[in-house]
Amino acid sequence: MPYKYTINGGARLKGAINVGGCKNAAVAILPAATMVRGVCRIENVPRISDIYAWLDILTRMGVSVRSINETTVEIDSTSLRSIPATFDVMREMRASYYLIGALLSRFGEAQVSMPGGCDFGVRPIDQHIKGFRSLGSDIEVRNGIIHAKAEHLAGNHVYMDVVSVGATINVMLAATLADGMTVIENAAKEPHIVDVANFLNTMGADIKGAGTDMIKINGVRELHGGTYSIIPDQIEAGTYMVLAAATESDLLINNVIPKHLECITAKLREIGADVEELDEAVRVRGNGRPGKAMIKTMPHPGFPTDMQPQIATLLALADGTSVVTEGVYDNRFRYVDELRRMGAHIQVDGKVAVIEGVAGLTGAAVRACDLRAGAALVIAGLAAAGRTEIEGVSHIERGYEMMIEKLCAVGADISVREIETPSVIREAL
Ligand code: EPU
Repeated sequence: MPYKYTINGGARLKGAINVGGCKNAAVAILPAATMVRGVCRIENVPRISDIYAWLDILTRMGVSVRSINETTVEIDSTSLRSIPATFDVMREMRASYYLIGALLSRFGEAQVSMPGGCDFGVRPIDQHIKGFRSLGSDIEVRNGIIHAKAEHLAGNHVYMDVVSVGATINVMLAATLADGMTVIENAAKEPHIVDVANFLNTMGADIKGAGTDMIKINGVRELHGGTYSIIPDQIEAGTYMVLAAATESDLLINNVIPKHLECITAKLREIGADVEELDEAVRVRGNGRPGKAMIKTMPHPGFPTDMQPQIATLLALADGTSVVTEGVYDNRFRYVDELRRMGAHIQVDGKVAVIEGVAGLTGAAVRACDLRAGAALVIAGLAAAGRTEIEGVSHIERGYEMMIEKLCAVGADISVREIETPSVIREAL
């Protein structure tokens, strides 16, 4: 049964929120565990539906998955044999493509469903394919399935024509068990790329330079088991930081790496919020109406595209006119129509949104069209006067761990309700 969030806005929140493990690291580390002969104990795994989908896929592939506690799993792929990974659920996930790099690395072949994921316009995987081909793999797409096969996977120089998180990680996975040295140039530098490299190195890989634009992978024969703890989620933390500023709240956001949040901290300070950096926490206090800002999203260390809908929602309440330019995707402003229903004044022209701040938003019935758009609507609903109802919340639960529980614990008024089937349809069933 689908359900929706009902938010009574206007409350000022106060208290502490604990951030979970990084989604975009976890969705690569779980498939990477199929490369390991031995038990991988993975800690700080986020409790989100994308991870539950991965655990289901691994189990269906014959991998042994054991849950130790709510955020720790043990994965043992020792007895895994290369098999086609073409389950329906994979067509809805972007990260399903990581199984190509992982299985190709370990078995020299892979058959994986074409990936899905949030709809931000065209999302090609040409750079992944180019990388696999450089390492000696044949790649073909037939009937929605990617077939990769290499007689001999060997290291090579791979130059990325666009800076891509997915392609950088995928080529890193494929190169880990390849013969010889691979050099990835123009690599993406996001914290989760460093995290995936650290995971692989803990299991015996030889990867240097992750976090810079040149990564060197010296292929090893085999990976062994070990224990690894995933870094905190930069975007979950950033979302609560922006939420605090938008609702004039006082939130202590725990289990973060403040360095990963610097670009968000800098923008929030520029807009007028108080941000205090502690050892493994940040405290954000909203300070009246935010100021206007100019923002352009870029690959790391630029302002992350995955924070664009949330910061645009904050700027919808600013004193003055702001400009937000999307520098990564062609079409990541689909949520703007929903904010307009709540009284926001935003004009979008291609990759640029001009946001004329209003003094307040008003509650409305809206729909989340993707994960971060959904988070932006929760921020808008909490900042708005009156009641907001958000449908499409399964998008939010793909990537935010227990968001409603965390927000209610600091004073938010949000309830989760089933969406009733209209009686005319109920009777017809
Ligand atoms: N691109 C290509 N060719 C490729 C790969 C990418 O042209 O072969 C383009 C894309 O179309 C896009 C740009 O390069 O315009 C960057 O895409 P990237 O490959 O970096 O994105 P991704 O790996 O598909 C991951 C995250 C996204 C996040 C981006 C950018 C995962 C599963 N997804 O996607 O996360 O927006 O990196 O940081 O890691 C989210 O969490 O909400 C989310 C969408």
